[in-house]
Amino acid sequence: MFNLILFGPPGSGKGTQSEKIVEKFGLIHLSTGNLLRQEIADETPLGLEAKNFMDKGQLVPDEVVIGMIDSCLEKHAGAKGFLFDGFPRTVAQAEALDKLLTLKKTSIAKVIALDVIEEELVQRLLKRGETSGRSDDTNEAVIRKRFAVYKDETEPVADYYREQEKFEMIQGIGTIDEIFKALSTLIEAEIAHQQSVSAQ
Ligand code: AP5
Ligand code: MG
Repeated sequence: MFNLILFGPPGSGKGTQSEKIVEKFGLIHLSTGNLLRQEIADETPLGLEAKNFMDKGQLVPDEVVIGMIDSCLEKHAGAKGFLFDGFPRTVAQAEALDKLLTLKKTSIAKVIALDVIEEELVQRLLKRGETSGRSDDTNEAVIRKRFAVYKDETEPVADYYREQEKFEMIQGIGTIDEIFKALSTLIEAEIAHQQSVSAQ
């Protein structure tokens, strides 16, 4: 199995690039944000609980998202690999993910972060808010809150993977195709590296 994490602040392009990566490399896309929005659309109890947090720009409790990821991994047991987008967002989630993957005799190959300055992020999200229907995009105060939560709770996840020597950052400003090219080069190098290790 080949598992990747696409990391970065709200609006950095994780969702946009994930769609292209999963298509090119045949991975399953696991976006906790998308999964939570589907629960809200389906009006499930989990969705109703999550909406309260998401509308305020706060994180949904760890146990809720870890449970969702666990059942998705089970559902796609035969997958070639997973691309995690918007997860893990806390160190507790990263530790839980490592445990789940170890049980499945696999691990994270690489974490790639998209580096984008905050003013560009705010502009992208406000623009998307005009059409996306996402309640957390229309209000600049909620967008700023999401950045504050990212700095406090999610940035430490980068150090967690730096310690494992799995973390890389690339420029997240440029055209979608330029960024996808840079991501593809990194991913192809990692796949080649894994193949050479397993051939030994
Ligand atoms: P989530 O859905 O993960 O949202 P997010 O992290 O805030 O990030 P976005 O989806 O807004 O941005 P993105 O990086 O995917 O960028 P995108 O490609 O869309 O989370 C939402 C909420 O759910 C959280 O606040 C939390 O409450 C909850 N949640 C989710 N996961 C959780 C977890 N693990 N734990 C706890 N709670 C969780 O691009 C953004 C815009 O920019 C788009 O309009 C796009 O077209 C545009 N764009 C993309 N690339 C470029 C480019 N190169 N140049 C110009 N524009 C671009
Ligand atoms: Mg997204």
